[in-house]
Amino acid sequence: MAIHTKQAPYRTYVIGMTVPAGAVPAALYWDTADPYRYVRLQHGDGQGVEGTDVLLVGGEDHKTGHADDAEQRFARLEAWTRARFTAVGEVAFRWSGQVMEPVDYLGYIGRDPEKAENVYIATGDSGQGTTHGTIAGMLLTDLIQGHSNPWEKLYEPTRRAVGTTSALEFVKENLDVATKYTEWVQPGDVDSEEEIALGAGAVVRRGARMVAVYRNTFGELHEHSAACTHLGCIVHWNSQEMSWDCPCHGSRFNPSTGEVLNGPALTALRTFEEKE
Ligand code: FES
Repeated sequence: MAIHTKQAPYRTYVIGMTVPAGAVPAALYWDTADPYRYVRLQHGDGQGVEGTDVLLVGGEDHKTGHADDAEQRFARLEAWTRARFTAVGEVAFRWSGQVMEPVDYLGYIGRDPEKAENVYIATGDSGQGTTHGTIAGMLLTDLIQGHSNPWEKLYEPTRRAVGTTSALEFVKENLDVATKYTEWVQPGDVDSEEEIALGAGAVVRRGARMVAVYRNTFGELHEHSAACTHLGCIVHWNSQEMSWDCPCHGSRFNPSTGEVLNGPALTALRTFEEKE
């Protein structure tokens, strides 16, 4: 079973707020809301100012390509933080990233499930990247050297989801992907490229074609097929990261050149000189 059917891509948002050194005990905090939030403390303010730390607060995750409202998500993170950590100052940093959520909450670390020779994978970190990265370093080293490892079965990429909850999650995520293909018969985001502002992108329908149109800050248009080169879902505009994001399995593309920023797609969005 292909690995992209067993995990789902999510975007997660993080803000860094200044806080007086010592005002927040250094610890790793998180809640269990859905979507959840996580908090950690970074010593120093990143600018060399003495006596200031940065409180990193993340969360507000959504499936990649399913929302484009980063400003509201950053604002909710800030409000949530101010309500709980009253010593915080200004928002000094903010960014978003992409995480892979496996259907049974455990990473996939081991030999390539497609059986490519000498290919090993480590993915599905579910926010546990430091832990999984460490495990992957140990486990994959053993596999490459032909040694056994007690964790091999646990993280085996070919494993089936265990338990009813995981199986339901598998069905839900793959149904969600299936519904995204109906966008091929729906209108574009806008009727015409004339409606696209400087530095923004939108999908425009032209007959049977869906076109990913980006207008750069000089007003020049960059047009590519909106068909993701992985398995053909229609890409969505991400105004925070300035990229085309695929809502099916999380591939991301450069808006000017169409180049791949994030797999599983391996090739750039097509121009219309190329065959779809
Ligand atoms: S169709 Fe799979 S990532 Fe786009």
